Amino acid sequence: MYRIGEKEIEAVRKVVESGQLFRYHKGRTAEWTRRLEGALSRKLETKHALAVSSGTAALITALAAMEIGPGDEVIVPGYTFISSALAPLAVGAVPIIAEVDETLTLDAADVESKTTRYTKAIVPVHMLGLPCRMDSILRSARQQDVPVLEDAAQAAGGSYRGRRFGTLGRAGILSFNHYKIISCGEGGALVTDDADLYQRAFVYHDGGCVFFDEEAASRPEFFAGVNYRVSEIQSAIMNEQLKRLDGILNRLRRRKAAMTEEFARSRSFRPSRCNDAEGDCSTHLPLLFETADDALEFVEANRHTTPMFRPIDTDRHVYTNWEPILRKRARHRAMDPWKWAKRQISYSRDMCQQTLDILSRTVCLPVPLEPTVKEVRSTAKSLL
Ligand SMILES: Cc1ncc(COP(=O)(O)O)c(C=O)c1O
Repeated sequence: MYRIGEKEIEAVRKVVESGQLFRYHKGRTAEWTRRLEGALSRKLETKHALAVSSGTAALITALAAMEIGPGDEVIVPGYTFISSALAPLAVGAVPIIAEVDETLTLDAADVESKTTRYTKAIVPVHMLGLPCRMDSILRSARQQDVPVLEDAAQAAGGSYRGRRFGTLGRAGILSFNHYKIISCGEGGALVTDDADLYQRAFVYHDGGCVFFDEEAASRPEFFAGVNYRVSEIQSAIMNEQLKRLDGILNRLRRRKAAMTEEFARSRSFRPSRCNDAEGDCSTHLPLLFETADDALEFVEANRHTTPMFRPIDTDRHVYTNWEPILRKRARHRAMDPWKWAKRQISYSRDMCQQTLDILSRTVCLPVPLEPTVKEVRSTAKSLL
């Protein structure tokens, strides 16, 4: 979480004083959540936004709304938070793990080679706020007639060629958990231009909406959903957080540009290629080294003075550490997505060699928000 303060405290106070903490109020959708959804749609320039309880809930809701289920395959990158790969399992489908390239995002060529007639969604993840190569991914998805679900959990407000992340495919998701650019501790959202998908998502995210929602009569046929509702407290905080978003992104971009400029002078590494420097909202600057040992040496030499890490060393984001998936552990023997798959699915620790190579040769430096651009530049210089 980058910034939180008086505005959020005041917003929470108003909600508590109103005594109205639930999404629905006397049959009507209450003020804060409705307001957040409107503000999010406007900010991202998308027709529909649905606030939910987490980014994982948003992914599962989107897949459920896209009618993905048993027998289906969903392509996800080997470098992302495990949730991107768990979500397909939650709806009965299986994740297919694909390579990332130097940009730390999905390798479009590998996606193409892993697309089969069972592929029912592709999930590009804008990791650390870094833009995926959406033109190639969308082109091949279109050719194969597979919908794209953008995981912008770590990338609120970023854009690719002028369009905000989350709005380029059939649907997109954001996370508002503690580690994200804007946050209310826990929360998420689904965005889409597709009215039917939105309606299905609404029904899925709140199986009880039939009893509470004043718009229930206009929803499509009801089916069994879950409860991924947000509370008014979360939405009140997020309304304030959303107002801070563009300011945060401006500060991040200016500081990252300064760091990139300085690091471009290095002879031992270079800033990793970026798919869209203008839309980039990255919270980290990745540097690419010739060898894994060079990267490790750089981290060892500097980590006591400057925060940095190799992505290969971040456990939850690297597929080799996703034990429940690699071991194909379903939660119930009669509800096992791998048994429902139309072909044998195998995983191994070395199945994405390119990903492991790139993650071990990359060092990520957080882009700090508070120091001045001059200070950021001088820290970068000290590392050359
Ligand atoms: C890329 C990515 N996708 C999905 C999620 C899931 O979000 P949440 O923790 O809000 O469920 C995260 C969370 O860290 C994430 O980083």
